[in-house]
Order: sequence, then C-alpha cells, then structure tokens
Amino acid sequence: MAHLAHENVGSGSPVVLFAHAFPMDRRMYRRQVDALAKANVHAIAPDLRGFGASRDLPKAGSIDDHADDLVALLDRLGVERAVVCGLSMGGYVALSLARRHASRLSGLLLADTKAGADDDAAKQARAANIERARHDGVIAVFDAMVPNVLPPDADRAVVEELRGLAAAQDPAGVVAALEAMRDRPDATSALASISVPTRVIVGSADRATPLAQAEILARAIPGAQLTVLEGAGHFTCVERPSEFNRVLLDLVSACR
Ligand code: MLT
Repeated sequence: MAHLAHENVGSGSPVVLFAHAFPMDRRMYRRQVDALAKANVHAIAPDLRGFGASRDLPKAGSIDDHADDLVALLDRLGVERAVVCGLSMGGYVALSLARRHASRLSGLLLADTKAGADDDAAKQARAANIERARHDGVIAVFDAMVPNVLPPDADRAVVEELRGLAAAQDPAGVVAALEAMRDRPDATSALASISVPTRVIVGSADRATPLAQAEILARAIPGAQLTVLEGAGHFTCVERPSEFNRVLLDLVSACR
C-alpha cells in the first residue's frame, strides 16, 4: 500500500474519488474538481502510483494494487464510501475497487473504459509501448495513441494539454502501468453484482474504448445510464467538461 499524493477539496457527503487515465495524472480532472467545489461536493483526486506526484512511490504490480491504494487513501482520510469516477485505466481501477471493495462504493462513473481483458493484439501493442516508453519517452507513447484517442478535428488546446500531462510522466511508472493493464483480469462477470447508481460516458469518436464497450458496461450493470458525447474522443473529461460534469453532478445527486 502506498501513500498517494492527492488533492482533497471540500468536506461532507457524498465524496467523489477520481481515478485518472494513462499516461496522465490527477490534473486531468481539474475541471471536475472545480465543478464539485462550486457545488460544495467533497472531491479527492489522487495521482496513482508511478504518476504525477506519486511517481517516486514503489511501482504498483497490478490494477488491483491501484484499487487497494485508493481504499487505503479513503481509510487515511476517514471516508467510508465514495462515488468513484474512473476514466479508461482509471475505469479498470474503479472496476477492481467495485469487485473487491464493494462496501466502499456509493456510486460509479465509468468513462471511456471497458470490462474486458487485453486480447493478443492489445498485449502486443503494450509490448510496443513499453519499448517506446523506455527508449523514446512517454511523449512517444502518447503520440502513438493519438489516432485512437482523439478525433482529427480535436481542439488544439486540448491536445496540447493532454500532451503536456503525458510529457510530465515518469517512463518507469508508465512501463509499470502498461504491464499492469496488460495483465488485468476480465471484469465482465462481476458487472451484474454492482448495486450502486452508475453512469457510463463515452465519446462517439473514441476508438480506444469504443461505444460497443460502453454498451456492454451499461447493459450489464443494473440500472446504469449511458451518455454518448457525439464527436468526442477518449478523454471526455478534458474534451467536453460541461457535459461530463452534468453527468457527474446528476450521479452525485442520485447518491445523496
Ligand atoms: C487510458 O487512457 O487509460 C488507456 O487508453 C487505457 C488502455 O491503454 O487500456
């Protein structure tokens, strides 16, 4: 268990706990943390192990380790239950938390993510990205992701913001995360047991975790509601913050 660097804004209940995407850090959610602060909702945004200000912690060996870190953070902050918001890799972590620490969950927002494990092609892509991270740096990993994660007409400021976040990450942390994602188990069979209010968001132009994956989540999780952001890519919280925040605040209301 590691002591994650984090932002902790506000107090009271419900609490929203964020799990960021790869290869990003908690700053990816700054617009969501701001929106929750304005709405007087308690927000906790950590840097997962190996990323951001948690870069020097011992590397996590698995997605489950990241979920355990989040629960340890809730324990340290005296928070019993949280609405967990995870985008992409953060969604894998949120699903692990839902599966292994269900009593700590009061709501779930799964954005641009999926329940399935890596197939052989995805594992090969991980190996290529591990080489890129080691030899060319994290920016090369991000640039290779771009055609799958951002539409050709993506806002330049959004692309530069995401590129800047990626460039700030430690290659060793990124390699550890690629290995953890490559080895994560299939979470599909546990979806039906999720019993908290759940929202699923996907960008219609997300080719990394496309609509079909979001539909699997929304169909399998009882009562889950799906929102498709037309024209958005993979990083919906950065690309389309107003619509993302509307879904998040609606979920928070449902969890009161
Ligand atoms: C992410 O955005 O976290 C990644 O695209 C997830 C993945 O590579 O599976």
